[in-house]
Amino acid sequence: MNGNNIYIEDDGKPMLHSGSFPEKNAENKSITLIFSPQIEGVGTLAEALKLFKEFNVNLLHIESRSSVRIPNHYEFYVECASGGDINGAVEVLKKTMAYVSVVSTEADGGKSDLEYIPWFPQRIRDLDKYANKILSYGSELKSDHPGFTDEVYRTRRKYFADIAFHYRHDDPLPRIEYTPAEIKTWGTVFKELVKLYPTHACKEYNHVFPLLIENCGFREDNIPQLQDISNFLKDSTGFTLRPVAGLLSSRDFLAGLAFRVFHSTQYIRHHSRPLYTPEPDVCHELLGHVPLFADPEFAQFSQEIGLASLGAPDDYVKKLATCYWFTVEFGLCRQNGNIKAYGAGLLSSFGELEYCLSEKPQLKPFDPEVTGNQEYPITQYQPLYFVAESFEDVKYKMIQFSKTIPRKFGVRYDPYTQSVQILDSKLQIQDLVKNINSELQILCFTLSKII
Ligand SMILES: [Fe+2]
Repeated sequence: MNGNNIYIEDDGKPMLHSGSFPEKNAENKSITLIFSPQIEGVGTLAEALKLFKEFNVNLLHIESRSSVRIPNHYEFYVECASGGDINGAVEVLKKTMAYVSVVSTEADGGKSDLEYIPWFPQRIRDLDKYANKILSYGSELKSDHPGFTDEVYRTRRKYFADIAFHYRHDDPLPRIEYTPAEIKTWGTVFKELVKLYPTHACKEYNHVFPLLIENCGFREDNIPQLQDISNFLKDSTGFTLRPVAGLLSSRDFLAGLAFRVFHSTQYIRHHSRPLYTPEPDVCHELLGHVPLFADPEFAQFSQEIGLASLGAPDDYVKKLATCYWFTVEFGLCRQNGNIKAYGAGLLSSFGELEYCLSEKPQLKPFDPEVTGNQEYPITQYQPLYFVAESFEDVKYKMIQFSKTIPRKFGVRYDPYTQSVQILDSKLQIQDLVKNINSELQILCFTLSKII
């Protein structure tokens, strides 16, 4: 699923798509500090920790790493519980340490003098923190949900929600034995949509789809397994799937994309209405999202949105979530003079896939400055779509837009360590330039061999 939308298909009837949800207040507020001592030596961490005791600050987690900012120094990563005089402790750290950065689980509303960076995951396993931080549990059905009165379906939904709730990074994705009724529902959706893909889907989608049939069991009589798809995506672009138990906030959902991780549902819509779902389900994820995550340019574009969201102020996260809505969910693109669909909300919706390429909706060129502020309805087909010239074009525009986000640091994903680096020192930039330089030398050498 995409954590920040609801997706409904109703056989041509109005569909509901809702955008970003309000950020949930973290139940357990905490502040993470990253600092490096001026002088290295035995006992420097112990000395620093005394400070927290002095200011009555309880520590939840402590890690030490080799500093990437100061040569031959260590860096300490300390998660503090709320309470105590954290501001006082930080003020002292700032005077005595060579480097200090403050990351918070939530903005402090201007109550302190500290400059907080909203918390974001820095390692791929940090995404585990989202598993229990969902806005609503996937088994909580509203009274107008087709499965609301179906006890068997509700039990099944709880089964899927529990799997996701307990899932942790590096666990295998549980293989599901889908019931005949569930497979029949999938088959109905699959059969209708595959008729439209050759004419309505973008060429990248149609390039990948046969590979999913060959490698991942995409068939009318089979619901593919997340693990098989995740393996396929990892080989293609490094994207992986992880199950999600319910709705995530926009900030949390987008952060997953920074690591090329897509939070996916595993349950299927209620069998009584196969062409309708009040929330993202496995049909939406697998038929809508998955194929394009295997396309390198699209994968990079998706990751750019995720990286731009890390530590960004709330109003910018909202704009990025809206850009995500009008691209990854409802994007159209121009190909060989024709308009084609690449958004997952379109590619998994029989009704809207036909509608979006008709004369009815309004089309505008994709421009993050405009698109990010565009309102959109949540109970009907979109009256307006934004058209990209290419995936490269939307990626370039998103990178340009991300430069306008007020952040005092840069971010970069390191695929070797599967972590996001906060770039805020000269040494880090120098190291990166060296790496790029050595990569360029390899490329130049190879080029001289093959020309
Ligand atoms: Fe989605």
